[in-house]
Amino acid sequence: MKKLFCLLFVFLCTYAVGQETIVLAVHPSQGEQKISRHIYGQFAEHLGTGIYGGLWVGEDSSIPNTNGYRTDVLEALKRLNIPNLRWPGGCFADEYHWKDGIGPRAERPKMSNNNWGGLIEDNSFGTHEFLNLCEILGCEPYVSLNLGSGSVEEMAEWVEYMTSDGDTPMARLRRENGREKPWNVHFVGIGNESWGCGGNMKPDYYVDLYRRYTTFCRNYDGNRLYKIASGPGSIDPKWTETLMKGIGSKMNAMSLHYYTVTGWQGKKGSATDFDAEDYYWTIGKCLDIENTITATTDIMDKYDPQKRVGLMVDEWGTWWEPEPGTQLHQQNTMRDAFVAALSLNVFHRHIDRIRMTNIAQMVNVLQSMILTEGEKMVITPTYYVFEMYKPHQDALFLPMEMQAPTRAVREERTIPLIDATASRDDEGKIHISLANIDLDNPYKVRITLDDTPVNQISGTMLTSKKIDDCNTFEKPNKVKPVPFKGAKWVKDAIEVTLPAHSIVTLEVE
Ligand code: AHR
Repeated sequence: MKKLFCLLFVFLCTYAVGQETIVLAVHPSQGEQKISRHIYGQFAEHLGTGIYGGLWVGEDSSIPNTNGYRTDVLEALKRLNIPNLRWPGGCFADEYHWKDGIGPRAERPKMSNNNWGGLIEDNSFGTHEFLNLCEILGCEPYVSLNLGSGSVEEMAEWVEYMTSDGDTPMARLRRENGREKPWNVHFVGIGNESWGCGGNMKPDYYVDLYRRYTTFCRNYDGNRLYKIASGPGSIDPKWTETLMKGIGSKMNAMSLHYYTVTGWQGKKGSATDFDAEDYYWTIGKCLDIENTITATTDIMDKYDPQKRVGLMVDEWGTWWEPEPGTQLHQQNTMRDAFVAALSLNVFHRHIDRIRMTNIAQMVNVLQSMILTEGEKMVITPTYYVFEMYKPHQDALFLPMEMQAPTRAVREERTIPLIDATASRDDEGKIHISLANIDLDNPYKVRITLDDTPVNQISGTMLTSKKIDDCNTFEKPNKVKPVPFKGAKWVKDAIEVTLPAHSIVTLEVE
C-alpha cells in the first residue's frame, strides 16, 4: 500500500511539472545585434480618452496635474523608459491640421474627430503640448504627418515650425508661441494607412505623393528627419513591392500594422469574457505576426539586401469589442500580457529589420498601459510586461534554441507552450524572459549558457489565479509582478520551474 502511494505521488509530481524538462540553450557569446530601445515605443492618438482625460486634463482641472498633464499618469509612464511616442494618429493624423493646435488654447478652432465618433476636438493638446510631453518623458517624438488631407505646404511648414532654428517664418511663429529653441524631431511618418483611412490610395499614387511631399520636408539646423513611409496593414505584396521599387531609396523605413483581433468565426471577442480555447486561439493569432513580418521582409530583402530600410511595426496589440459607449476602450487581462510578451519576443527575433514598434495605444485605447476614469488610474498587466522587459532595451540579442511543447488549437493552428527571449546588457548582465503559455501545467526548463560563469540569479514573475484576471479601479492590484524564486543553478545550468500561465524575467549575473 505504501509503495502504491509512493508511486502515485511520483506520478502526480511528474504530471504537475509537465512531462518533460525543456532544454533552452542560450548562447551569450554569439550575440551580434542590439535590440533597439525603439522596439518599446508607444502610440497616443486623439481617440476616445487616449489624450483628453487620459494624459491631458488641462491646468485648471481638479485632477492633480503638472502643467495640464495628469501627474499620476506621468509618474507611471516615466517608470517605463519610453523610447519614443507616436502622435497624433493613426487615422486622426490624416485629418489633423497642425495650425489649429498652436497659440492660445482658448482661441484654437474646434473640429469634428470624424474617424472616432465625431467627437468635438478642441485642439487644446497640440504640437507644443505633445513635444513638451516627450521632453518630460525623456522620449523621442514620432510625428505622423498629414498626407491624406493636408497640403505639401502644410506638411513642410510643420517640419519647419518644429525644427528650424533660423530666422524663418515658422520658427518666428513658434517663438511667438513661447518656444525659443526648436525641438529635436527625428521620426516622421508620411501619412498613415494611406491604403485605407489615410486616403484610400493605390500604391503607385502613394509613391508619387510620397516623392512630392517629402521633397519639401527639409532638414533644418542639424535636425535629421527619419522618414517612415506608410506600409502595409497585413501581408500585402503589391503595396510592399510598389513602395520598395518606387521609393525604397528615398525612405528610411516603412511601417507595418498588425492587430491581434482574435477573429474566431469573424468576431472580435470580449476583452474579459473568454474561455481557454479563445485564449489559445488569441496566442496563435498573436504569433501569426511572425508570418506577416517574414512575408514583408522577404520582399524588402529582394530590393534592399543590405537591410538599410527599417520595418516599423508602428501599430500592434489586441483589439477587443470596445466597452459600450466608448471609443476603443477595453480592459486588459493576463491574456493581453501574454500578447505583449510574445509579440516583443517576435520583434527581438527580427531586429535585423525591425527598428521600431509602437503598441496601440498608451492610455485608455486598445491594449493600453494605463486605464483612467475621472481621477482614478489603474496599471494594466501589459504595463507590467513592458516594465519587466525594460532590461532588453538596447541590450545585445542572444541567440537561443529550444524544443518547446506544442498544442493544437481548434484543429487549425499549432502553438508553442513555452516561448523565450534573452539579451545581455552593457554591464554584462543576462536577462532571460520566459513565458509559460500553458493554462494548466507548470514546466521545468533547464537553461544552458555555454560556459558563462553564473554567480547570482534573481527574477520577477507576472501571473494570476485566472487568465482573465485584470486590474480594476476597485481591485487595482489583482495582477502585479512578484519576486520569482523558482530558479536555481544546478550543476551546469539554471533550472527553472515555470508555473502555469506565467511570465518570468530572470536576471543572471
Ligand atoms: O489604433 C487605432 C487605429 O487603427 C488607428 O487610428 C489606425 O491607424 C488603425 O486602423
